[in-house]
Amino acid sequence: MDKQLLSKTAAAMVAKGKGILAADESSGTCETRFKSVGVECSEESRRAYRGLLFTTPGVEQFLSGVILFDETIRQKGADGVAFADYLARKGILPGIKVDKGAHDLALAPGEKVTEGLDGLAQRLGEYFKLGARFAKWRAVITIGDAIPTHACLYANAHALARYSALCQAASIVPIIEPEVLLNGSHTIERCEEVTEATLRATYAALAAHNVAVEHVILKASMVVSGKEASRQAGVDEVAERTLRALKRTVPAAQPGVVFLSGGQSDVSATAHLNAMAATKGLPWPLTFSYSRALQNPALAAWRGQPANVGAAQRAFLHRARMNGLAAQGKWKPEYEKQAV
Ligand code: 13P
Repeated sequence: MDKQLLSKTAAAMVAKGKGILAADESSGTCETRFKSVGVECSEESRRAYRGLLFTTPGVEQFLSGVILFDETIRQKGADGVAFADYLARKGILPGIKVDKGAHDLALAPGEKVTEGLDGLAQRLGEYFKLGARFAKWRAVITIGDAIPTHACLYANAHALARYSALCQAASIVPIIEPEVLLNGSHTIERCEEVTEATLRATYAALAAHNVAVEHVILKASMVVSGKEASRQAGVDEVAERTLRALKRTVPAAQPGVVFLSGGQSDVSATAHLNAMAATKGLPWPLTFSYSRALQNPALAAWRGQPANVGAAQRAFLHRARMNGLAAQGKWKPEYEKQAV
């Protein structure tokens, strides 16, 4: 375990004005997203699309890292250079999704546990050689009648802790992502309660497994109203409740917190991050690690056509720039109009 490398990597991941692109969608998720814009999903179209994102001129000003999928870390760009090497040369850290997805949790209807611990030590060794310096593991917590249960929170926390310990032993910084889903008609109060319980269970498990929080990055879901809730909380309330849940549970020793977008609109995800990052006196830097909220406009502009690559890259750069500003609390709604 190279603690110096872990410290250096963690600090670089949350460098000022930069955030992380999540480009680690599984092939199934990619298929759904591509279908929505009429693009056939194949290894080649996924390579072309991700190459478009990575080669966007100037995007390195706003990206500290990119989370890759297993297929992508083994692919090369049009220039014949491996994507991981290309990104590293641009000063962008390559990361890797290592979990094997959320599966039904036995005897717990409606709940999931994330799998992928078997053989993980060997896979991490290989990913390090391929250039990965950080990893991601996503746990999924659903809010519903009488769920999440204690069993679900603790099974997922245990897996996150085992994964984190294995990552640190391999000199790879773990991103822990216990995502509380926004699907449902629950209130924002309920989301806050569940987020707090989830984070409490997660950090208790990390401590039990001797994981150094100094070398962990939290990828948090924001505390929001359920998607179908009759009352939708505004930006200030989302920021206040999210920060309260984080302050109650996340150790100050942790180098940073990044957020997922979780199905929020592109601009909402930016506005929420901006409101939180503008808050003074927080113990950790905050930034983004979005997939949909960074990529949606680029994907819609691309539509699989080589002639649209320039327009797609401009759309992607714009969202990266907006979120880079939001991570410093410097974004303004009117900047959205100066787009592309
Ligand atoms: P979204 O920003 O689309 O929620 O994706 C983030 C992510 O990495 C999910 O694991």
